[in-house]
Amino acid sequence: MSFVIAMAGKGGTGKTTVAGMFLRYLLEHGHSPVLAVDADANSNLNEVLGIKVESTVGEAREEMKRSGGGMVDMTKDQLIEMRINQCLVEADGYDLIAMGQPEGPGCYCAANNLVAHFMAVLSKNYPYILMDNEAGMEHLSRLTTKDVNLLVLVSDPSWRGIQAARRLKDLAKQLKIVVGRAVLIVNRVTNGLSPRMQEEIVNQGLELAGIIPEDPILADFDSQGRPTFHLPPESTALQAGYQIFQKLLNQA
Ligand SMILES: Nc1ncnc2c1ncn2[C@@H]1O[C@H](COP(=O)(O)OP(=O)(O)O)[C@@H](O)[C@H]1O
Ligand SMILES: [Mg+2]
Repeated sequence: MSFVIAMAGKGGTGKTTVAGMFLRYLLEHGHSPVLAVDADANSNLNEVLGIKVESTVGEAREEMKRSGGGMVDMTKDQLIEMRINQCLVEADGYDLIAMGQPEGPGCYCAANNLVAHFMAVLSKNYPYILMDNEAGMEHLSRLTTKDVNLLVLVSDPSWRGIQAARRLKDLAKQLKIVVGRAVLIVNRVTNGLSPRMQEEIVNQGLELAGIIPEDPILADFDSQGRPTFHLPPESTALQAGYQIFQKLLNQA
């Protein structure tokens, strides 16, 4: 069974950035191979990682629909498996698979079902699965095994951000996702967390794993379109992230 790490949080809080740092931590600490899943249609995990995605699961699904399903000498399952494998991008120590765009307005059903179907098969090959999600976590709810060992809620350092993180934690429960542990990371912190904010985190029943500072080096990388996966060691965000990930994995 793989150890599944899933990112959640409202848009722009830094989920994808933190996912990239977490992936790097896993690889640098011998926790590989990792299957990285980009399950956010608007996401750019591959850009954060600095790799190219040729084909998404959504596109594969569309293509299959057009070609009318199976080929003569292939069952539908074999075809799906082949297509999913074609969507896998092999990188150093990890593979990446991207869900891509929904087919209709807001509908991920078919692409999700495809991934759900093969996640179980794929997961045998990877001790770690790292999923970057949309806030809604819709696709997570479709997985055959809805087990998430570690749900990482990412928030900005705002009052409303904390409330949103709490709601996402509740949503995971409503979606019947079996969460081993849910933790909060407050990202882009400039002035520490006020005592009032810390109190609110506790009041909302959230466990604070740590804070990641607003990092000028990261911002600079981002503004130049450089993949933040390759941040230099002096990046304060990277350093803070690594401390948090180390603690979380030691406790896993
Ligand atoms: N700690 C940080 N310091 C500076 N910029 C950050 C930090 N975390 C994230 N960012 C920037 O914030 C923006 C949103 O981050 P992103 O990871 O794409 O968020 P999300 O995936 O939650 O939508 C990006 O431009 C990213 O580079
Ligand atoms: Mg994102």
